[in-house]
Amino acid sequence: MPITTPDVRNYYERNTRLFLKFGSSSQVQTIHRALWVEGVNNLPAALEVSNRLALAQALALNANRVLDVGCGVGASLFSLLSQSPSSAGVGVTLSGLQARLARQNAQKFPALQADFVEADFAHLPLAPGYFDLAYSIEAFIHAPNPRQYFAQAARVLRPGGRLAVLDDFLTPGASSPWLAVYRAGWHAPNLLVPSTAAEMAGEFGFALLQESDQTPHLRLRALPEPFARLLLFLFRPLWRVHPLVPSMLGSMALQQALHAGCLTYRWLVWEKTA
Ligand SMILES: C[S@@+](CC[C@H](N)C(=O)[O-])C[C@H]1O[C@@H](n2cnc3c(N)ncnc32)[C@H](O)[C@@H]1O
Repeated sequence: MPITTPDVRNYYERNTRLFLKFGSSSQVQTIHRALWVEGVNNLPAALEVSNRLALAQALALNANRVLDVGCGVGASLFSLLSQSPSSAGVGVTLSGLQARLARQNAQKFPALQADFVEADFAHLPLAPGYFDLAYSIEAFIHAPNPRQYFAQAARVLRPGGRLAVLDDFLTPGASSPWLAVYRAGWHAPNLLVPSTAAEMAGEFGFALLQESDQTPHLRLRALPEPFARLLLFLFRPLWRVHPLVPSMLGSMALQQALHAGCLTYRWLVWEKTA
């Protein structure tokens, strides 16, 4: 069964509070993976690392207008805007619950200019050419149609603006049964080889500026294969009981696939040239 945008919305509507409680830190409230770069020795700091990657782009562009495409409950945007005082930001999320939580969270940062919109990034209700920087942290993977994602990003960015994506990408030629479990469990239809993503982005006037592999900074928790297969066998029948079950099996599959080198966690930055 193909993964649709309503499936992804339902996944976040039902899981967001659990992700925030058990998969994040109460201090940071991001819904993304921790990056344990050198010098980082606690979870809040490790969750901040990807926010800092986006911040570096905002500072490089001296960005006034920043768009977080797939913003969760706003944590990355608040972090970026706190450290880039000349910027105002908009966060877009597919989940009404996340948009409401993000607006509530915004009250804790009255000095920041942050707005949140509940929308599909394939149909952004935003003015053309308005933003200097758009970025997605673990959201691009959810696009059933990546061309629509790039088309919309290209539409809302000004010429010379940048698009940055942090997400899982397929290793060329990789094959593993875990990939299908990851795709289905995390509602991640858009698993591309980086060069394919770059080619597609090129169709919409994006030129690749940076690409870096962040996988070495993840703390992988792969299980012995037979044990992972046993867990899949035991829990698969519960797949439809609650969307947390596919999410947890998807997380396990992701760890197995990253450990096997079938996936990498990458940071890609493009400039809108045309
Ligand atoms: C793993 S969460 C990451 C959230 C946030 N970037 C962070 O790092 O905390 C994925 C995000 O992508 C958003 N998303 C997925 N598909 C989307 C779509 N079609 N349009 C807008 N947002 C989408 C979800 O609503 C969610 O906010």
